[in-house]
Amino acid sequence: MRNEDAMAIAPTMTDSPTPSRSQDIPCIYVCQHRSCELRGSPKTLEAFQAAKPKGVVVQGCGCLGQCSSGPSVRVTQDDTWYWQVQPEDVPRIIEQHLKQGEPVQEKLNTRVHLQFYF
Ligand code: FES
Repeated sequence: MRNEDAMAIAPTMTDSPTPSRSQDIPCIYVCQHRSCELRGSPKTLEAFQAAKPKGVVVQGCGCLGQCSSGPSVRVTQDDTWYWQVQPEDVPRIIEQHLKQGEPVQEKLNTRVHLQFYF
């Protein structure tokens, strides 16, 4: 399925952060709820949509439960959670994570992706 086709069938925003089709089609969910919105998530969503990552649906969504660390972004293909994602972070997430398979460590939500330093 082409990204354009997927976008055509996808609504622009969902209240559920985990719609059932997220298992079938790789998605990038960008929270558009209150706290994230106040921290600029509409611009983050615009940046992802403008980049049109191939084979991935970009969608605004309701609260992802990480309100104090927004804008929150969830990538469903490997269930990666990012926090404090600003528009300038989007090209790196697309290039490094989506194209090369390496999540951007500096933007990982450490509440979800525990990291230990010894
Ligand atoms: S408002 Fe965005 S995670 Fe809750």
